[in-house]
Amino acid sequence: MTIDFPKRFLVETWGCQMNELDSQRLSSQLMQEGILPTSDPQQADLILLNSCSVREKAAHKAYSRLGEYRLLKEKRPGLLLGFCGCVAQQEGDQALKRVPDLDFVIGPARVGELRQILRQRLVGKRVVATGFPDAAERNYDMDTLSREGTHKGMVTIIEGCNKKCTFCIVPSTRGPEQNRPLDDILSEVRHLLDFGFREIELLGQTVNHWRDPATSADFAVLLDRVASLDGLDRLRFVTSYPRDFTQEMVDQFARHSNICPYLHLPVQSGSDRVLKMMGRGYATELYFDLIERLRKSRPGIALSTDIIVGFPGETEQDFQLTLDLLSRVRFASVYAFKYSPRPGTAALRLNQPEVPLEDADRRLQTLFSLQREIQTKINQALVGEVFEVLVTSLGKSAGTLTGRTPCHRVIHFEHDTATSYIGSLIDVKVERAYPHSLIGSTVLPGWPEQIDRSRSSLPIVS
Ligand code: 5AD
Repeated sequence: MTIDFPKRFLVETWGCQMNELDSQRLSSQLMQEGILPTSDPQQADLILLNSCSVREKAAHKAYSRLGEYRLLKEKRPGLLLGFCGCVAQQEGDQALKRVPDLDFVIGPARVGELRQILRQRLVGKRVVATGFPDAAERNYDMDTLSREGTHKGMVTIIEGCNKKCTFCIVPSTRGPEQNRPLDDILSEVRHLLDFGFREIELLGQTVNHWRDPATSADFAVLLDRVASLDGLDRLRFVTSYPRDFTQEMVDQFARHSNICPYLHLPVQSGSDRVLKMMGRGYATELYFDLIERLRKSRPGIALSTDIIVGFPGETEQDFQLTLDLLSRVRFASVYAFKYSPRPGTAALRLNQPEVPLEDADRRLQTLFSLQREIQTKINQALVGEVFEVLVTSLGKSAGTLTGRTPCHRVIHFEHDTATSYIGSLIDVKVERAYPHSLIGSTVLPGWPEQIDRSRSSLPIVS
């Protein structure tokens, strides 16, 4: 059977920011081939599924989505189906056996090879591209990324992970750390700023473990260099590892006002005993001390974290320590998950009693309700404050806009429907607060006429 060159593609993305960026890189390569995006699977003749394997549920989802797309392929045999992301890496050849009509498999470190892989498919070969080439061989497609959105540009600085957290599958799906050279990173950020992006998000599994391969300059140096670039309004980075966060990095928050007063700092547990079993390499004392120094460097900094409940051997007492940590730190938001056993991870061999599912469920709910109370109080204290809001989208209800405060809180406010301000910075006063969002109103007296248009990244048509 000859395969027609595809005309329309669809990329479905699951998982973290790295996957989001990988999907943008996949899309850009296809668009360079003249293939256009569509959000309608019926119209697509090439579908890429970018999968996540961090928890079992996400990995299962990948196979059930593949199953659904196979049904489409039964009706339209010309449809090409590519399996990408962390589950694809994990499964490799197995994926082709399990799903015989898959057309190709691409692991996260091989995303830059999509065009060649597609060409091979068109001459009959079904390529499985997994594994971890050296950084020098990775194609970042920097200048050609089809950046989605108008305001936030994501930039990979380090790929993979060398940590040995016992619960985590990522080191096996994204491979060992590979650092991108400083100059590469700076020129990609410069490029995005020149195209009008206002916010830059530096990405890495352990972003603050980055080092320049040539000079060994560390992440504090990189933050300083990036934050000093002209035209950068907001700089964020994810995900930081507590033990690798040096005082020089903390100091950058005081030094550069365009580094957002927001930090995601996964702690995973409030119990030192559990942290040890997780292989995190720090105790809660280090974490509390770091939080204190961050708050000194940038008063009002909003912090978020990741928590796993029900890790093997976690007792009620351990869990109570996690609740105590939440009460003490008072995070602006918390991402909490039930422990999910992952293939090949060391936690499977810990010889610790499993936490019964009912207990893990109850712990998760207890944690969520405590955090909801904390968040409600924190957000209520913001009523009356004015924030410079980066407008990210039209709001759900007509006549509203949605944006983010510098501390990364979602805020909704009314706007003039005749005009889109997406990508602009607007001063907004908080009027009401909910646990997960704020409601505000614009504070400019003659708004929208008096908006400082010179600060907008997009031509504003009024
Ligand atoms: N089970 C549950 N949660 C996990 N995470 C990573 N691995 C697991 C697992 N096996 C969570 C951690 C991590 C976040 C991205 O996902 O909290 O920080």
